[in-house]
Amino acid sequence: IMNKSETVVVTGFGPFRQFLTNPSWEAAQGLKLIGLGEKVAVHVKEVPVSYLKTQQIVNNSLCTYVCLLQFAVHLGLARGSSVVILEQTGKNSGYRDRDVCGFCPESHCCIEGGPQKLDSVINMRAVSEHFRRAGMDVIYSRDAGRYLCDFAYYCSLYHGQGRAALIHVPSSGSLASADRLVPLLQALIQAMLEQLEEPSKTREPPFH
Ligand SMILES: *[C@@H]1O[C@H](CO)[C@@H](O)[C@H](O)[C@H]1NC(C)=O
Repeated sequence: IMNKSETVVVTGFGPFRQFLTNPSWEAAQGLKLIGLGEKVAVHVKEVPVSYLKTQQIVNNSLCTYVCLLQFAVHLGLARGSSVVILEQTGKNSGYRDRDVCGFCPESHCCIEGGPQKLDSVINMRAVSEHFRRAGMDVIYSRDAGRYLCDFAYYCSLYHGQGRAALIHVPSSGSLASADRLVPLLQALIQAMLEQLEEPSKTREPPFH
């Protein structure tokens, strides 16, 4: 870690319904194996599909690594999707579905009193258009689905001042195979890190 100048924390989710090993966690482990280039330290973390555990992990893991650049990437599974979806926004309220513990926050919120929505500092539309022009199945979204992925994203954007990404990975189609998915995720995250390094060009303000 000492001579790495950037740290990226990549999370994937734990078991959920028929997915005893969640493909999002397999993708995170794949990214750990191939890395994000020699300057970047990659830490991976499995997050249970639980509101409380997710919040604990996001609150803690973002403060653990003190480095020049800290960026969190959350991988979540988009059931039924065959494309990679880059999420721009995390929403604070409207969480009504129970997690794997049968729990749902009473307030239906991530953070009581927090802004209604938070945006990543990364311009996800620009990243997705770049990859789509190169023929990749990557799309852009502003609605992360108000379940654990959206919840983790909002908490992470809140704690990391917008320095986070949520990428929904497909459960079907050719990109559902790790051999094809992981190198694409690597390229996507590297494009995001490049954007972080050139502030004024394509970035949107973090909160609006
Ligand atoms: C995480 O941080 C938020 C905002 O500071 C706080 O409201 C919440 O209680 C924390 N949750 C846990 C489980 O630490």
